[in-house]
Amino acid sequence: MCGIVGYVGYRDCSDVLVSALTKLEYRGYDSAGIAVFEDNKISVAKSKGKLKDLVEKMAAEGKPQGHAGIGHTRWATHGEPSDINSHPHSGAKVTLVHNGIIENYKELKDFLVKQGREFLSDTDTEVVAQLLDYYYANIKEPIKAIIETTQELRGSFALGIVFEDYPERVYAVRRESPLIVGVGEKENFIASDVPAIIKYTKNYYLIEHDEIAVLSHEGVEVFDAHYQPVTKELKTADWDVDAVGKCGYPHYMIKEINEQPNAVKQTVAPRIKDGMPCLEECSITPEKLRTIRNIYIVACGTAMHAGMVGKYVIEDIARTAVTVDIASEFRYRNPIIGEGDLIIIISQSGETADSLAAMRLAKEKGATTLAIVNAMGSTIAREADMLIYTHAGPEISVASTKAYMVQLSVMYLFAFELAYAKGKFDEEKLRYYTSKLESMPEMIEKVIAQTTEISQKISTKLMTADSLLYIGRGLDYALSMEGSLKLKEISYIHSESYAAGELKHGTISLITSEMPVIAVATQSALYEKTVSNIKEVKARGAKVIMICKENCEVSKDIADYVLKIPCYEEILLPMLVCVPLQLIAYYTSVQRGNDVDQPRNLAKSVTVE
Ligand code: G6P
Repeated sequence: MCGIVGYVGYRDCSDVLVSALTKLEYRGYDSAGIAVFEDNKISVAKSKGKLKDLVEKMAAEGKPQGHAGIGHTRWATHGEPSDINSHPHSGAKVTLVHNGIIENYKELKDFLVKQGREFLSDTDTEVVAQLLDYYYANIKEPIKAIIETTQELRGSFALGIVFEDYPERVYAVRRESPLIVGVGEKENFIASDVPAIIKYTKNYYLIEHDEIAVLSHEGVEVFDAHYQPVTKELKTADWDVDAVGKCGYPHYMIKEINEQPNAVKQTVAPRIKDGMPCLEECSITPEKLRTIRNIYIVACGTAMHAGMVGKYVIEDIARTAVTVDIASEFRYRNPIIGEGDLIIIISQSGETADSLAAMRLAKEKGATTLAIVNAMGSTIAREADMLIYTHAGPEISVASTKAYMVQLSVMYLFAFELAYAKGKFDEEKLRYYTSKLESMPEMIEKVIAQTTEISQKISTKLMTADSLLYIGRGLDYALSMEGSLKLKEISYIHSESYAAGELKHGTISLITSEMPVIAVATQSALYEKTVSNIKEVKARGAKVIMICKENCEVSKDIADYVLKIPCYEEILLPMLVCVPLQLIAYYTSVQRGNDVDQPRNLAKSVTVE
C-alpha cells in the first residue's frame, strides 16, 4: 500500500530517495518523507500531499544532505494524510518507514504509554518506532532489537530503519509486505518493488519473511530471525529503464495501453510449442487438467474482471463449471472447495491481501491453486502450487490496462489447453484457436490505431455526464464490467455495468437523456437481443454509444455514435474491445483535468484488507 526505499552509497541520498519514490508513487501518494544521515545525525523532511509537494518543501527549506537514508510514500490507513502522520516516524534513537499494517498496535501503544512514551501521530508505524526504540535502549544492538520488536508485531510490515548510533547504515526487515535489496556498484538500496531501483541497478535480492538486511558502504548482509547469516541468490530484472519511464507519453496509462501488443506477445509466444499451447513449464499438464472437478477464479478489481471473461470462455469451450469470486468475499464465505477443485488466483501485483488470503484458504482446504501473476517473485507467485507469469513488464498507472490484457491472454491459453485435455477441442480446433490468439498482438495494434481518434471524440460527449451505464450480454457483459470500472476510477463519473437483459427489471428507470449508455454488442448469437435492449433505452431518451463489429449496419435510431472494431474470431474479441473502453476512460479523465495515473483515494497495490 505504501512504498518504502532506502539508500547507502556515494550519490546525493535525498535525490536518490526521491527518484526511487517517484517509481513507487503508484503504491500510495497522499504524503511522503525521507530521513537522511547528515553529519551523523538523522535529518527528516516530510510533507502531506504528493511527492512533488515534498520536493517543493525541500527546495524552499533545504534538503537533507548525505549519502545514506530511507524514504516513504504513503496511502493512509491509520490517521488522515497530514504532515504529522507522514513517515518517517521516530523514537529517541530510531527512525523508520513502514509499509503494511500492525494489527496489535493498540495494545503495544498502551504498553508503551505505560512506560512513559509519548506519541505524536495516529499511526501504527509510530508504535513500531517507539517499540524498537524501547528495546534498543536496553539491548543497544540494532539487529537484536529488531528481532525482539518483530516478535511482538502482528500484521504485515516492510520496514526501512536507521539508528542514530549507527550512521551510514540502513536496516530493513519484512513480514508479508514486499521488500527487495538492490545491489549496485559501491551503492545499495532497499525498495518495495524493483522499478524503484532499476535506474541504478538491475541486480537484487528478494528478502524473505523475518529476514533482516543491513546495508552499508561495504555491502549488504542478510540475517534470519535467529541472527544467523543468510546467503541470498542474486536476481536480475530483465527490463530496462524505459520500462519504468513514460518514454515521451503524457501518462503511464496511455503508454501502457500502447504496450499491450508487445505484452501479449511476451506472454503468449513462449507458451506455444509447435502451434499448440504448452503450459508444462508452469506445471500444468493435460493429465492434471483432466482431474479438475470445478474451477474457482478468485481475484480483486480488474483482475477479477479478467476472470469474468475467463469464466465465459472456459465454460463455453471446455464445458467445466467456473465460479468467479471477489477475493474479499470468497475468504469469508466458507467456500465449499476441496481436493479436485482448482482455484485460479489472478493478480497483477501478486501481493493483494485478500487474494493472498483466499489462496492460502484454498490450500488449507486441500484445493489446488494456480496463480496468474505479473510481479516476479511476489508472495502469491511464490506460494501457489502452479504459476503462470504474465509478462506485461512493470505497470505503473493505477488504472490497470496491459495487466488486464495479458491476464485475458492467459485465460485463453488455459481455456484452450483445458478444452483439448477434456476432449472438447480436437487438435485441428486447438491449432486454429491458438493461431488466432498468436495473431492478437497485430490485431490489438490495429485497434489502437483505428479507435484512438473516435474514443477521444466520444470522451468529449461523456465528460460532462454525471452517470452512465455500460450494457452487454455474455462476453460483452463481462467486458462492460471492466469498461465501467476503468471509467469511474479515473474520470470520477459514476458508472455501472449491467447485463443488458436485466435492465428492464429495475435499472431502466434511471434512464433519461442525461444518462449516456455504452452498449457493447460484438457476439453474433446475442446481437439481436442486445439491439432490442438498446432500443429500449433509446426509446427512453438515452444517448447510445454502440461498440460492434465493422460488418454491422447500425441505423441512427439505434445508436448516436458507433465505434467499430475489426471482425475476428468472436471468442477473442474482448482482447480487442477492451482497447476502446480503456481509451474512452483515459481521454475522459484527461479532458476532465484529472490526475490520470494517480486517481484520488486509490492505490495500485492493496496489501491491506
Ligand atoms: C487495486 C488496483 C486495481 C487492481 C486491484 C487488484 O484495487 O487499483 O487496478 O485490479 O487492486 O490488484 P492485483 O495486483 O491483485 O491485480
